Amino acid sequence: MLGKLNHIAIAVPDIKAAAKQYKEIFGAKVSEVVEQPDHGVSTVFIDLGNTKIELLEELGEDSPISNFVAKNPKGGMHHICIEVEDINTAIEKLNEHEVAITGTGKPKIGAHGKPVVFLHPKDCNGTLIELEEV
Ligand code: CO
Repeated sequence: MLGKLNHIAIAVPDIKAAAKQYKEIFGAKVSEVVEQPDHGVSTVFIDLGNTKIELLEELGEDSPISNFVAKNPKGGMHHICIEVEDINTAIEKLNEHEVAITGTGKPKIGAHGKPVVFLHPKDCNGTLIELEEV
């Protein structure tokens, strides 16, 4: 059911500073900062050719990453995102095997305009996993 690694997301306290480091010191291909008020985050994508890094900064009052940032004030790896062909088939299989999906358990439209679900770290070796339908 799992396809390619789509991105690794890193939560950061200052997205402009982090983007500048990746661009100017690490010499990476870095996007502009995009505010995504519907998702409670600002994002920057770093194109690594075979995959991407997604930088995330809290945006607004109700950000889904605020607890994480409070616990990791210097930032940290927040989740990995793996592609799936059919998200509903994936969800059925996860339900069958009692792998918890966060929130309602239903797919939502993610930060890239595609359906996503997040698998709870308690059932995934302590790692938050995003599945994105491609
Ligand atoms: Co993501």
